[in-house]
Amino acid sequence: MSETQSFQFDLLARDGNARAGVFHTPHGDIQTPIFAPVGTQATVKAVTPAQLEEIGANLVLSNTYHLYLRPGADLVAEMGGLHEFMQWPHPMLTDSGGFQVFSLADMRKIDADGVTFKSHIDGSTHRFTPESSIAVQEKLGADIIMSFDECAPPYDRKYNESAMARTHAWAERCLRAKTRPDQALFGIVQGGIFPDLRTQSAEFISSLGFPGHAIGGLSVGETKEEMNTTLQLLNDVLPKDKPRYLMGVGSPEDLINGIRRGVDIFDCVLPTRLARHTAAMTFTGRINLMNATNAHDHRPIDEGCGCYTCQHFTRAYLRHLVVSKEMLAATLISIHNLYTLLELVRRSRKAILNGTFDQFADDFLEHYQSTNA
Ligand code: GUN
Ligand code: ZN
Repeated sequence: MSETQSFQFDLLARDGNARAGVFHTPHGDIQTPIFAPVGTQATVKAVTPAQLEEIGANLVLSNTYHLYLRPGADLVAEMGGLHEFMQWPHPMLTDSGGFQVFSLADMRKIDADGVTFKSHIDGSTHRFTPESSIAVQEKLGADIIMSFDECAPPYDRKYNESAMARTHAWAERCLRAKTRPDQALFGIVQGGIFPDLRTQSAEFISSLGFPGHAIGGLSVGETKEEMNTTLQLLNDVLPKDKPRYLMGVGSPEDLINGIRRGVDIFDCVLPTRLARHTAAMTFTGRINLMNATNAHDHRPIDEGCGCYTCQHFTRAYLRHLVVSKEMLAATLISIHNLYTLLELVRRSRKAILNGTFDQFADDFLEHYQSTNA
């Protein structure tokens, strides 16, 4: 099977700029729009693969930076690749390491060829180049792999100009370095909050023939309005017949705003990270289960929710787990939060297929209490 056949994207319906589609991968179809839970270290924290399946998760993301440092890509390959190693038989995506090097590693030094950095684990020195990032991602074996890019702070024009130029040169090198036909390599658009840079980046990256396009450098300190304006602009420039992936974005209102502007794929640590900090996500906003108001509450987190946690447990019990610092708290709240985001994209998809997405999105945003965090 040729690459374009195995990674075909079928657009089933459009409603305004929102899209419902299917992206075909060697480990199954991805029904878009989709939210991908993050399994940074080859595990979605506190949640088993069986629980992820019950939630209805499909695409799971993992990180080149973390797995390269520990346990090492050769070990993952020796154990049969990432799917086998972590026992996730469904689609997987790995990020390229660039973004994580910039946010996690110490003393990084970037040059035209790549990035030298110190491990956040033991301080040892390492180097990523576009070629080595692709080599690591080929050993890990995810279905979707990402170009090695540089993400600049959103308001720094000069920095964004050079990071974009680097990202473009590195995208071409990633394409040349790629050897596996059973992986789809996505290009990444950068350019900060600057419309001309974003347009230039989207035009250049789209010209390279990637089977999918990612939008990087958002949700990194810009306002929601600036993110929406950027997405609106990119919606017109990026090819409509390939999937669009908004990287690192995952609050409920960001998903709705992204879907409304033509985004198909999202990922974010937010649902699992909030869960470990005792916060539950709902369709109307956040609930902190540590709060004493939950102490005698017989209700589940969300009475309309079909997740395992809400089908079985009261807020009073969850508060008890949280107060007692029991590990099960993180598991049960993660299950609920992930279910909420997956349910949100499933309902969005249904609405797009029915031609009622605008109404659905308006109703959602009207009832949703935004949290700044
Ligand atoms: N995750 C969130 N934002 C980004 C980005 O700009 N680049 C990459 N590679 N990953 C990301
Ligand atoms: Zn629930």
